[in-house]
Order: sequence, then structure tokens, then C-alpha cells
Amino acid sequence: MRKKVIAGNWKMNMLPNEAIEYIQTFEPMVKNSKAEVILCVPYTDLFYCIMNAQNTNIKIGAQNMHFAENGAYTGEVSGKMLKAIGVEYVIIGHSERRQYYNETDESVNKKIKSAFENDLKPIVCVGETLEQRESGETEKIITTQTKLALDGLSKEQVKNTIIAYEPIWAIGTGKTATSEDANNSIKAIRNEIKKIYGEDVSENVIIQYGGSVKSSNAKELFTTSDIDGGLVGGASLKPEEFSKIVNYDE
Ligand code: 13P
Repeated sequence: MRKKVIAGNWKMNMLPNEAIEYIQTFEPMVKNSKAEVILCVPYTDLFYCIMNAQNTNIKIGAQNMHFAENGAYTGEVSGKMLKAIGVEYVIIGHSERRQYYNETDESVNKKIKSAFENDLKPIVCVGETLEQRESGETEKIITTQTKLALDGLSKEQVKNTIIAYEPIWAIGTGKTATSEDANNSIKAIRNEIKKIYGEDVSENVIIQYGGSVKSSNAKELFTTSDIDGGLVGGASLKPEEFSKIVNYDE
């Protein structure tokens, strides 16, 4: 049985003092969770969050990284730097980065490889636009993105990759894919992984859903056959609301 993995993506929100207060409030609410609980926070909050989440079941992730280890890349942060301060997870290829910062399937692939070289667990985002969905291309888009993202990885690495299926039209819009739709898209991704890496890998890889997940729809989404948890944006900014999502099965 695959474990549920529920990650908050704070995006560009929360000052360090707010982050510390959040973790102090949130920790007792989720301490008995059977799911893996991750907070992906801005770079400036990472170290504070890591220190404050020590000896708890909350894991800390970044929201992006550069693929090089170091060098003349002004303003960038490498996987090696993240690892050095105790980061465990990193979101790679979020649609906002693909859309606003020219992230491509190729750079996503390089970043995932670099994440593994630095012993970080990547949370890799794929998802279709509304236009692509309406023209019936969803499955083709998301399976191609998955294939290109994972190109050249070993079976073991793919098993340790978390994929987040995030339909772009559902992000921050209040529109959620129906649980059936989301589950079918995730099945298509799992099937693509099976074709390339075999059943052992496809049955073990964690595939999350993201896009307007909230406490009122988490249970319906997370109890389908193939959705292994969620990547949660807006609803992860409030500890009470996010704890209800983490504790969806109570
Ligand atoms: P929302 O939950 O705010 O729709 O954002 C989803 C997302 O982009 C998580 O990475």
C-alpha cells in the first residue's frame, strides 16, 4: 500500500516569524498523522522551519532549485545548498515556474537529476492548461511531461520521485477536478510509468493531486484508487485548514 503524502506549497507567502508561529500551531494538530506531512516554503523561511520542525513529523521542502551545484548564476540556489541546511524535498517544474520563468521539460529533467545527486526528494509537477483540456489533449500532455521529466533516471530514482498532477485551470481558481477525473489522469500517468519502468515502479510511485484542494474535498480526492495525497497551495496557508486536509481520514 502506498503511503499518502500531503504537502503544502506556501508559494511566495509567509515571513519567518509567521512561519515559526505556523509550525508551533500546526505541529500538535498533525502529530498523529499517518500521512507524510511536508511544508514547501520560501527560501527565506527554510532554515527557520527546519529548526522549528526538528523532532516532529513535519518535513521541509523548497519550491525550486538550480540544476548546477554552484557557479555564476546570480540569484539562484542549488540543490547542494538546500541539502546543506537540512532540506529534504524540493518542488520541481511547478506550472507557475513553467509559465513565468521559462522552466522547460529539459530544465525540469536536469533539476530532478541534480536533486537526486544531492539526496533531495523531488516533487515534480505536471498538468494541462484549460485549452489543452478542452481540445482533448490532457492525457497526451501529462504523459509526455512525465516521460520527459523522468528521462534517464534509474528505476530506483523514479520510485523515489513524487509526481504532482496539477491541472493548471484548477490552481488557485476554486475549481477542482472531479475526483474521478483527477484519478483517471493520475492512472494515465501511472500507466505511462509502467510502460517505461515496469509495474514494480508504477505501483510504488507516489502521485499527488493539486489544484484547489481544501478540507471539504480532500477526503473524496484522497480515497480514490490512485491519488496518493495532495499538493496544496492556498489552503495550506492556514494551519487549522491544512491540518484538516492532513487529517482527512478522521
Ligand atoms: P491551490 O491549492 O491554491 O489551487 O494551488 C495549488 C498549487 O499550485 C500547489 O502547488
